[in-house]
Amino acid sequence: MSEEYLYIETSKHLEGTLEVSGSKNATLPLMAATILTDELCVIRNVPDLLDIKHMKELLSHMGKNVYQENDVLYIEGSIKSLETKEDIVRKMRASVLVMGPLLAKYKKAKISMPGGCSIGVRPIDQHLKAAERTGFFANLEHGFIELEAKELKPIDFTFDVITVTGTENVLCMLSTIEQESTLKNVALEPEVINLIDALKLMGVKIELDEENRTIYLKGLSSLEGFDIKAIPDRIEAGTFMVLSFATGSRLKITNLNIHHLNSIISNLELSGAIVNIINDNTIEVYPKSHEIKPISISTQEYPGFPTDMQAQFMSLLSIANGQSIIVENIFENRFQHAQELIRMGADISIHSKTAYIKGVSKLSGAEVFSTDLRASAGLVIAGLMAEGSSIIRNIHHLDRGYDHIELKLQKVGAKIKRLS
Ligand code: EPU
Repeated sequence: MSEEYLYIETSKHLEGTLEVSGSKNATLPLMAATILTDELCVIRNVPDLLDIKHMKELLSHMGKNVYQENDVLYIEGSIKSLETKEDIVRKMRASVLVMGPLLAKYKKAKISMPGGCSIGVRPIDQHLKAAERTGFFANLEHGFIELEAKELKPIDFTFDVITVTGTENVLCMLSTIEQESTLKNVALEPEVINLIDALKLMGVKIELDEENRTIYLKGLSSLEGFDIKAIPDRIEAGTFMVLSFATGSRLKITNLNIHHLNSIISNLELSGAIVNIINDNTIEVYPKSHEIKPISISTQEYPGFPTDMQAQFMSLLSIANGQSIIVENIFENRFQHAQELIRMGADISIHSKTAYIKGVSKLSGAEVFSTDLRASAGLVIAGLMAEGSSIIRNIHHLDRGYDHIELKLQKVGAKIKRLS
């Protein structure tokens, strides 16, 4: 099969409206949570993405009945196999999310151990530590981790690091235990809250103390189905916002949730964009003047600046009027896009977890390779900003997380084509 790539030409002053799809990172844990019940679960606003397709395959392979109509996903029935398909786990790290629900419902799971990936080592020690406290014995053999318990006990557990899928997995794992558990130092990303809302619909009692990053949870031995909408993808929304400013456009971005975007909005404003909030679901982004101002960004857990927006901002700041600084605190290897931007004329130097970006007057189109999902989005923005044409290869990364991006961008006038 010939490999597909994106061909992009300079595209400035785009006009129109970009619609944000449902969130990948919210939909995946909601899909995994359907394992907790045999009843029908309905997930709305599901994006059309490779990772979602992989999760559907994983659940079907385990015995779930999975069907979809437009952007609504229906999942019901019981699990027949407690093993995860190794090839899917290799393709999608997020398949580790089935572990918590399997442990809660069947007290047993066999998971193909996820490997590292291009953005970092990405261990799951926190997921396993909480499982062991709950009563599971873990055995790692031949690349698989097997967990089993006779009886589950409630826990009072403090995460050593704040982890998104770790928090999601452990919430699901505890959801069938009828005594109260306490989780401290939890992740508060809106995707975690979306899962908490689904668990509540299933019958789990959950209280959230956001100020102290603490969750109190009391489960039920038998859980009900749910009908829930996946939240809008805040990273897709943020990508479009940066893209609008970077291309000197005035784009309306709709189907988003402004309350999830505070740190992105404030950094865009600092760099010289006007962010006009039209209502809770729609904003407009455009340049205040011709100047992109240099800024300093430091990635943090939510509500801080998301690591998933770092690459897109790096593209923007590569033509800022001065030196910007980006500190990446979440993943240790998430600057690979810098090398590709340098091929396009950017002046970036990396020292450990800090990137120094000296603004240049322009980028020039080049053939570049995307190294991970968000890096690809950064390169799309750079390609639109750059003089001349660019080719972006390895776009399977992009397809994992952006719902038909080139079609959406064509509609607002961007010169971007998928070719093979
Ligand atoms: N960590 C540990 N031990 C653990 C778990 C995590 O040390 O047991 C470390 C990680 O190595 C990392 C940090 O904790 O340094 C945070 O990792 P986290 O577990 O929060 O990341 P994740 O849950 O694997 C999710 C998103 C990522 C997003 C991160 C951070 C999903 C499916 N993935 O990953 O999304 O970057 O949170 O917000 O929700 C993407 O969509 O492109 C993407 C990579």
